[in-house]
Amino acid sequence: MPRSRIISTGSYLPERVLSNSEIEEMVDTSDEWITERTGIKERRIADDGQAASDLAFEASKIAIEKAGLKATDIDLIIVATVTGDMVFPSTACFLQNKLGAVNSVGFDINAACSGFLYALHIADSFIKTGMHKYILIVGTEVLSKITDWDDRTTCVIFGDGAGAAVLGPTDDDRGILSTHINSDGRMWELLYIPGGGSRNPASEDTVKNKMHFIKMKGNETFKVAVRTLEDLVVKTLEENNLDPSQLSLLIPHQANLRIIQATAERLGLPMDKVIVNLDKYGNTSAASIPIALDESVVSGKVKAGDYILLEAFGGGLTWASALIKW
Ligand code: ACO
Repeated sequence: MPRSRIISTGSYLPERVLSNSEIEEMVDTSDEWITERTGIKERRIADDGQAASDLAFEASKIAIEKAGLKATDIDLIIVATVTGDMVFPSTACFLQNKLGAVNSVGFDINAACSGFLYALHIADSFIKTGMHKYILIVGTEVLSKITDWDDRTTCVIFGDGAGAAVLGPTDDDRGILSTHINSDGRMWELLYIPGGGSRNPASEDTVKNKMHFIKMKGNETFKVAVRTLEDLVVKTLEENNLDPSQLSLLIPHQANLRIIQATAERLGLPMDKVIVNLDKYGNTSAASIPIALDESVVSGKVKAGDYILLEAFGGGLTWASALIKW
């Protein structure tokens, strides 16, 4: 059975930068509070006319080109997002059309911030079975459009962006070593959007009551995230018979610097082996890991043969990890 490997990556961030000091003008908060509690200094905001597939398209073009492939070589597209262009069709179908990837099939998955690693898990399985050869996976989010800009407990956190990767088969010992996905629906109320679905269809009331915006019990989510991610990273390394000291890089979901530091500490990893870019982009949900991965590749932080651990936690609740030998 072949292994799968990430052949290439790409990312796209909207140009508009929204700084903490600008948010100070919008809600009762301060740069100091946001920096201390989250590590975030600024985030990117998509234009009014930009939807998830537009950001995904920019990131995907780069990834496909770097793979040395054409869009017509891609045979599967998986898009992870909670901010799809429309309820249906899938954002993957919009992306397929934009790319002209006429030989592919596309679908979306919804696992909130863990979405990209869910997509990686699915793509890895399909390549191993020989079902698909070149798979494009994308995390893309326009969270600014589902954020209540009057709610200081959430609006300081989120940002927009997209990251993509092209996967293909390989026969050598490098590639995706393992993927791990988990969910626990009992804690769905920690993080959700109540309105706009079949539970509370969009109406004047749902809009008036701001039910189309993200609701988050931040502090409870924080505590569960720290506990869960600490266990997850330890288990992921154990299953691969690896010691934390053998790890070259941890690429965590970018939700909160304190969560990232706690995970690194549990592994005894120095912070210079941990990728942090939330100061620039905030929490971009499903897009955060592929953006961070792409930046690590472009800056040369990831080298051939390196062991890299990816991990994420998000609404659902969902959590996931992957171990890669680059
Ligand atoms: N500015 C100033 N004060 C604030 C702000 C703000 N923006 N937001 C909240 N506060 C206040 C609160 O009202 C509270 O005040 P009180 O003590 O008078 O009641 C105080 O600050 C502390 O609030 P907490 O919520 O306890 O603050 P905490 O340290 O937990 O930080 C945060 C909040 C940043 C949201 C943190 O809990 C967090 O990062 N949670 C995890 C988020 C996460 O990982 N989500 C999952 C991924 S997202 C996804 O899946 C889409």
